[in-house]
Amino acid sequence: MQFHALSEHPEWMPLLAQWYFDTWGCHVPGHTLADEQQRLEVFLQADELPLLLVAVDNDVPVGAAQLKFHERTERPERLHWLGGVYVAPSHRGTGLAATLIDALVVRGTPLGVRDLYLQTEVDDGGLYARLGWQPLESTRHASGVPVRIMWRPLVTDAG
Ligand SMILES: CC(C)(COP(=O)(O)OP(=O)(O)OC[C@H]1O[C@@H](n2cnc3c(N)ncnc32)[C@H](O)[C@@H]1OP(=O)(O)O)[C@@H](O)C(=O)NCCC(=O)NCCS
Repeated sequence: MQFHALSEHPEWMPLLAQWYFDTWGCHVPGHTLADEQQRLEVFLQADELPLLLVAVDNDVPVGAAQLKFHERTERPERLHWLGGVYVAPSHRGTGLAATLIDALVVRGTPLGVRDLYLQTEVDDGGLYARLGWQPLESTRHASGVPVRIMWRPLVTDAG
Protein backbone atom coordinates (compact mmCIF):
# COMPACT_ATOMS: atom_id res chain seq x y z
CA MET A 1 0.00 0.00 0.00
CA GLN A 2 1.26 3.46 -0.87
CA PHE A 3 0.04 6.88 0.19
CA HIS A 4 0.02 9.94 -2.06
CA ALA A 5 -1.28 13.45 -1.59
CA LEU A 6 -4.09 14.33 -3.98
CA SER A 7 -1.95 17.31 -5.04
CA GLU A 8 0.45 14.80 -6.65
CA HIS A 9 -2.38 13.12 -8.59
CA PRO A 10 -5.15 15.56 -9.55
CA GLU A 11 -6.35 12.96 -12.09
CA TRP A 12 -7.88 11.06 -9.15
CA MET A 13 -10.30 13.89 -8.37
CA PRO A 14 -13.29 12.49 -10.33
CA LEU A 15 -13.04 9.12 -8.58
CA LEU A 16 -12.75 10.68 -5.12
CA ALA A 17 -15.59 13.08 -5.85
CA GLN A 18 -17.74 10.08 -6.81
CA TRP A 19 -16.88 8.28 -3.54
CA TYR A 20 -17.76 11.34 -1.46
CA PHE A 21 -20.88 12.13 -3.44
CA ASP A 22 -22.21 8.57 -3.22
CA THR A 23 -21.44 8.34 0.52
CA TRP A 24 -22.50 11.78 1.78
CA GLY A 25 -23.06 14.43 -0.88
CA CYS A 26 -26.06 12.75 -2.53
CA HIS A 27 -28.02 13.22 0.72
CA VAL A 28 -27.62 17.02 0.62
CA PRO A 29 -30.46 18.65 -1.34
CA GLY A 30 -29.18 20.50 -4.41
CA HIS A 31 -25.60 19.25 -4.02
CA THR A 32 -24.16 17.82 -7.26
CA LEU A 33 -21.24 15.63 -8.25
CA ALA A 34 -19.68 18.71 -9.88
CA ASP A 35 -19.96 20.55 -6.53
CA GLU A 36 -18.23 17.63 -4.84
CA GLN A 37 -15.35 17.75 -7.30
CA GLN A 38 -15.01 21.51 -6.88
CA ARG A 39 -14.73 21.06 -3.10
CA LEU A 40 -11.63 18.93 -3.66
CA GLU A 41 -9.74 21.77 -5.36
CA VAL A 42 -8.57 23.15 -1.99
CA PHE A 43 -6.43 20.03 -1.65
CA LEU A 44 -4.38 20.63 -4.79
CA GLN A 45 -1.64 22.72 -3.17
CA ALA A 46 1.43 20.68 -2.24
CA ASP A 47 3.15 20.57 1.16
CA GLU A 48 0.57 22.54 3.09
CA LEU A 49 -2.81 22.14 4.72
CA PRO A 50 -5.49 21.20 3.92
CA LEU A 51 -4.15 17.81 2.89
CA LEU A 52 -5.95 14.89 1.29
CA LEU A 53 -4.09 11.60 1.41
CA VAL A 54 -4.98 8.74 -0.94
CA ALA A 55 -4.22 5.05 -0.24
CA VAL A 56 -3.10 3.31 -3.43
CA ASP A 57 -3.00 -0.44 -4.08
CA ASN A 58 -1.34 -1.52 -7.36
CA ASP A 59 -1.71 2.01 -8.75
CA VAL A 60 -5.44 2.05 -7.95
CA PRO A 61 -6.82 4.47 -5.31
CA VAL A 62 -8.60 2.46 -2.59
CA GLY A 63 -9.03 4.96 0.24
CA ALA A 64 -8.79 8.59 1.25
CA ALA A 65 -8.69 10.82 4.31
CA GLN A 66 -8.49 14.58 4.78
CA LEU A 67 -6.77 16.83 7.28
CA LYS A 68 -8.46 20.20 7.08
CA PHE A 69 -9.47 23.37 8.89
CA HIS A 70 -12.68 23.97 10.83
CA GLU A 71 -14.97 21.19 9.62
CA ARG A 72 -17.22 22.63 12.33
CA THR A 73 -17.06 26.31 13.13
CA GLU A 74 -18.85 26.78 16.48
CA ARG A 75 -15.57 26.39 18.42
CA PRO A 76 -12.91 28.34 16.44
CA GLU A 77 -10.10 27.07 18.68
CA ARG A 78 -10.72 23.59 17.23
CA LEU A 79 -8.56 24.27 14.20
CA HIS A 80 -7.58 20.96 12.62
CA TRP A 81 -10.07 18.24 11.69
CA LEU A 82 -9.87 14.73 10.31
CA GLY A 83 -12.61 14.17 7.73
CA GLY A 84 -13.58 12.43 4.54
CA VAL A 85 -12.32 9.07 5.80
CA TYR A 86 -13.32 6.61 3.10
CA VAL A 87 -12.17 3.08 2.21
CA ALA A 88 -13.39 1.33 -0.96
CA PRO A 89 -15.74 -1.58 -0.13
CA SER A 90 -13.24 -4.10 -1.59
CA HIS A 91 -10.64 -3.05 1.01
CA ARG A 92 -12.74 -2.62 4.17
CA GLY A 93 -12.23 -4.52 7.40
CA THR A 94 -8.47 -4.97 7.10
CA GLY A 95 -7.30 -1.97 9.09
CA LEU A 96 -6.75 0.32 6.12
CA ALA A 97 -8.66 3.25 7.63
CA ALA A 98 -6.44 3.07 10.71
CA THR A 99 -3.28 2.90 8.58
CA LEU A 100 -4.45 5.80 6.43
CA ILE A 101 -5.15 7.96 9.48
CA ASP A 102 -1.70 7.17 10.88
CA ALA A 103 -0.09 8.18 7.57
CA LEU A 104 -2.06 11.43 7.57
CA VAL A 105 -1.00 12.22 11.14
CA VAL A 106 2.66 11.60 10.26
CA ARG A 107 2.38 14.15 7.45
CA GLY A 108 0.34 16.62 9.49
CA THR A 109 2.65 16.87 12.48
CA PRO A 110 5.47 18.74 10.65
CA LEU A 111 2.80 21.07 9.26
CA GLY A 112 1.96 22.18 12.80
CA VAL A 113 -0.99 19.98 13.70
CA ARG A 114 -1.04 19.37 17.47
CA ASP A 115 -4.69 18.53 18.19
CA LEU A 116 -7.11 16.84 15.83
CA TYR A 117 -10.90 16.74 15.97
CA LEU A 118 -13.48 14.73 14.05
CA GLN A 119 -17.18 14.06 13.95
CA THR A 120 -18.61 10.58 13.50
CA GLU A 121 -22.10 9.16 13.30
CA VAL A 122 -20.92 6.18 15.39
CA ASP A 123 -21.72 7.36 18.91
CA ASP A 124 -19.22 5.13 20.74
CA GLY A 125 -16.47 6.32 18.39
CA GLY A 126 -16.04 2.98 16.56
CA LEU A 127 -12.56 2.61 15.20
CA TYR A 128 -11.56 6.08 16.42
CA ALA A 129 -12.11 5.11 20.08
CA ARG A 130 -9.90 2.08 19.45
CA LEU A 131 -7.22 4.39 17.99
CA GLY A 132 -7.10 6.58 21.10
CA TRP A 133 -9.53 9.33 20.18
CA GLN A 134 -11.45 10.71 23.16
CA PRO A 135 -15.18 11.45 23.05
CA LEU A 136 -16.33 15.05 23.48
CA GLU A 137 -19.90 16.28 23.11
CA SER A 138 -22.73 14.76 21.11
CA THR A 139 -24.29 17.19 18.67
CA ARG A 140 -25.80 17.27 15.20
CA HIS A 141 -24.36 17.50 11.72
CA ALA A 142 -25.67 20.35 9.54
CA SER A 143 -27.88 17.73 7.88
CA GLY A 144 -29.52 17.00 11.25
CA VAL A 145 -27.84 13.62 11.76
CA PRO A 146 -26.58 13.06 15.36
CA VAL A 147 -22.78 13.01 15.58
CA ARG A 148 -20.16 12.53 18.26
CA ILE A 149 -17.24 14.98 18.35
CA MET A 150 -13.89 13.36 19.16
CA TRP A 151 -10.43 14.69 19.96
CA ARG A 152 -6.92 13.31 19.73
CA PRO A 153 -3.72 15.08 20.78
CA LEU A 154 -0.85 14.21 18.45
CA VAL A 155 2.45 13.11 19.86
CA THR A 156 5.02 15.85 19.38
CA ASP A 157 8.80 15.55 19.32
CA ALA A 158 9.04 18.14 22.11
CA GLY A 159 9.44 15.53 24.84
C1 LIG B 1 -15.55 3.59 8.10
C2 LIG B 1 -14.54 3.05 7.09
C3 LIG B 1 -13.59 4.17 6.67
C4 LIG B 1 -13.70 1.96 7.81
O1 LIG B 1 -12.70 1.51 6.91
P1 LIG B 1 -11.90 0.15 7.20
O2 LIG B 1 -10.62 0.16 6.44
O3 LIG B 1 -12.79 -1.02 7.03
O4 LIG B 1 -11.56 0.39 8.75
P2 LIG B 1 -10.68 -0.51 9.68
O5 LIG B 1 -10.52 -1.90 9.11
O6 LIG B 1 -9.42 0.25 10.02
O7 LIG B 1 -11.62 -0.54 10.94
C5 LIG B 1 -12.92 -1.13 10.85
C6 LIG B 1 -13.70 -0.58 12.01
O8 LIG B 1 -14.34 0.65 11.65
C7 LIG B 1 -15.60 0.72 12.30
N1 LIG B 1 -16.45 1.74 11.64
C8 LIG B 1 -17.27 1.59 10.59
N2 LIG B 1 -17.87 2.77 10.29
C9 LIG B 1 -17.38 3.69 11.19
C10 LIG B 1 -17.63 5.08 11.40
N3 LIG B 1 -18.48 5.79 10.63
N4 LIG B 1 -16.97 5.70 12.42
C11 LIG B 1 -16.13 5.00 13.19
N5 LIG B 1 -15.85 3.69 13.04
C12 LIG B 1 -16.49 3.03 12.05
C13 LIG B 1 -16.08 -0.70 12.19
O9 LIG B 1 -17.09 -0.95 13.14
C14 LIG B 1 -14.82 -1.49 12.50
O10 LIG B 1 -14.66 -1.59 13.89
P3 LIG B 1 -14.03 -2.89 14.60
O11 LIG B 1 -12.71 -3.11 13.93
O12 LIG B 1 -13.93 -2.50 16.03
O13 LIG B 1 -15.01 -3.97 14.28
C15 LIG B 1 -15.22 2.39 5.86
O14 LIG B 1 -16.17 1.44 6.31
C16 LIG B 1 -15.92 3.41 4.97
O15 LIG B 1 -15.30 4.01 4.11
N6 LIG B 1 -17.24 3.64 5.19
C17 LIG B 1 -17.99 4.64 4.41
C18 LIG B 1 -17.54 6.07 4.77
C19 LIG B 1 -17.61 6.36 6.28
O16 LIG B 1 -18.59 6.06 6.96
N7 LIG B 1 -16.51 6.97 6.80
C20 LIG B 1 -16.37 7.28 8.23
C21 LIG B 1 -16.68 8.71 8.50
S1 LIG B 1 -16.49 9.11 10.24
